[in-house]
Amino acid sequence: MHIRVLGAAAGGGFPQWNCNCANCAGLRAGTVRARARTQSSICAKGDTGDDWVLVNASPDILEQIKATPALQPGRGPRDTGIAGVVLVDGQVDHSTGLYMLRERGAPLPLWCTGPVHEDLTQGNPILRVLSHFCGVAHHELPLDGRGFEVPGVSGLALRALALVGKAAPYSPHREHPVPGDNIGLTLTDTASGRSAFYAPGLGAHSPEVDAAMRAADCVMVDGTFWRDDEMIALGFSRKTGRSIGHLPQSGPGGMLEWLADLPARTRKVLIHINNTNPILDEDSPERAELDRRGIEVAFDGMEVVL
Ligand code: MLT
Ligand code: MN
Ligand code: ZN
Repeated sequence: MHIRVLGAAAGGGFPQWNCNCANCAGLRAGTVRARARTQSSICAKGDTGDDWVLVNASPDILEQIKATPALQPGRGPRDTGIAGVVLVDGQVDHSTGLYMLRERGAPLPLWCTGPVHEDLTQGNPILRVLSHFCGVAHHELPLDGRGFEVPGVSGLALRALALVGKAAPYSPHREHPVPGDNIGLTLTDTASGRSAFYAPGLGAHSPEVDAAMRAADCVMVDGTFWRDDEMIALGFSRKTGRSIGHLPQSGPGGMLEWLADLPARTRKVLIHINNTNPILDEDSPERAELDRRGIEVAFDGMEVVL
């Protein structure tokens, strides 16, 4: 299986257009050693076949496609390597890119949960707007552990797991979470059985998610914030990371403790990194701590081959 990180940053990207935090300002000035990153998306395919499933449609998708020749095959006058799209939630950073795919000649095959479909037809009616262009062919993501495949993406099985997370601010159930607001995705190569667990928004530990992470050869999980109060300490927000569906890396019960508990053979990657997170600075002590723990920080263009 091949996974390619199209965008490793959280909403806003890195640097964020209006942000002067130490990372964003330092990257612009060239005084912080870090790579720019676009907003959250990966694509994946099995070992055979040329077409990919896009997981999350980032506002930066056009830039991401330009940077990824494998997504632009030339088999016809109009062509794409994107066979279908899976959404893990209905947030802006994961769904706005759907607008950019509107020139398709046929409805876009789209997998998302019932609650996310509701968010994207009511609170933020992208799917209603898209119906005036290519339209989408919606497939409801099963939450009962059943696997599914994306036609055209051979040798890759997908499975969704409901997570504790937070629906987008425009969601009809923002304050009343329901299963399916937010999912993690297990991607399995059907030939080798090797698998990855992808969860860019993971708000809390649970036995179910822990089991999914243990079963995977590689985990690509929420790297949004280092500290739970990161946005509060900077004066950018009054909300903790946990309260908006992102488990911080540091501190008791944080992601570092969780990852330390996984088998040594598990490849561990943090993804969906907010621009305020010190791990983006390659010379920071926080990044050195990740290195010591064998935890990788995803970047745009990163390839994971399993
Ligand atoms: C989140 O996951 O909380 C988002 O990145 C929010 C956003 O897209 O603004
Ligand atoms: Mn996000
Ligand atoms: Zn910033």
